[in-house]
Amino acid sequence: MPSREEKLSTIQKIFSGSKGILAADESVPTAGKRLESIGVPSTPETRQKYREIFLTTPGIESYLSGVIFFDETFRQSLNGKSFPKLVEEKGIVPGIKVDKGAVDSLEFPGEKITVGLDGLPARLAEYYALGARFAKWRAVITIGNNIPTDGCLIKNAGILAEYSKNCLDAGIVPIIEPEVLLDGEHSIEKSEAITTKTLRITFNSLKNLNLPLNEVILKTSMVVPGNKSGEPMDPSKIAEATVRCLKNSVPAEVGGIVFLSGGQTPVQATVNLNAISKLKPLPWPTSFSYARALQGDPLKIWQGKDENILAAQAVFLKRLKLNCAANRAQAEQSSYDGNRGEYRGEE
Ligand code: G3H
Repeated sequence: MPSREEKLSTIQKIFSGSKGILAADESVPTAGKRLESIGVPSTPETRQKYREIFLTTPGIESYLSGVIFFDETFRQSLNGKSFPKLVEEKGIVPGIKVDKGAVDSLEFPGEKITVGLDGLPARLAEYYALGARFAKWRAVITIGNNIPTDGCLIKNAGILAEYSKNCLDAGIVPIIEPEVLLDGEHSIEKSEAITTKTLRITFNSLKNLNLPLNEVILKTSMVVPGNKSGEPMDPSKIAEATVRCLKNSVPAEVGGIVFLSGGQTPVQATVNLNAISKLKPLPWPTSFSYARALQGDPLKIWQGKDENILAAQAVFLKRLKLNCAANRAQAEQSSYDGNRGEYRGEE
């Protein structure tokens, strides 16, 4: 019987201090797109090299409490040490993305359903044995003409609940990620309404299975205007809408909330996180769990060249440090310039 204490201690570790999670969990095709964007062919070796930049950056343990891996990366190793072991030795909790992607729904045209429940208990047992202590499952919610439908939201929510149950039974903390995409012409008000509805339906599903919500982490999009809406990204408006949405939809007993960056620029993701922190205390611990906003700039600097690795790592470390500062309560942010996502006085 997996211990409840272990799962609660995993959550405590994840939300220790102002640390956050690196989402290094792009699937092979998505990692391929990232590499192709800098002209590097995607092979197991180049994907491994790309991950190594982040995992071997000296000092990451001061800013990262968790890393989410993808199956391929979870099994890769450096100098005979598996990647999960490598981070675990730095006191960082290894996690694993276990969904098998979002596919077009036949039942709900224009919407997606995330798949991967088949064989999940066996996969989770193996990941646990290999060191994973938390997992992630992403559902994709698109805002458009007459979508999302309640039916599709309920379907994805039911799958998220089933996945969570499997994780909890395996001793693994589930991160549920119903991501409301920022693509589209919708207003911030529409984004808030849809995100609130999505989260309410999701937590109802978890409650229907009587799952212990304090052993579950929510990974959510911030409430932002659609990227084709023409509305500005106003950090205080985003923070107010996000916090109002979460308070209206996420039960207080949920173990914690992490934000995804979802296509925001690295600076926007830091600045908006900072604006949310200013509204603390919140009913849950909160932090960041970014992929693109942490890895995007280092990727561009690296360009696949060994001589650029140190510069890429320096930018990565700096962005981690800024996000941790942004995640701290306002009282501790006196030298933090929220508009620039930088410390005042820092180079
Ligand atoms: O599922 C998405 C990742 O975990 C977060 O990625 O920060 O680039 O949105 P992102």
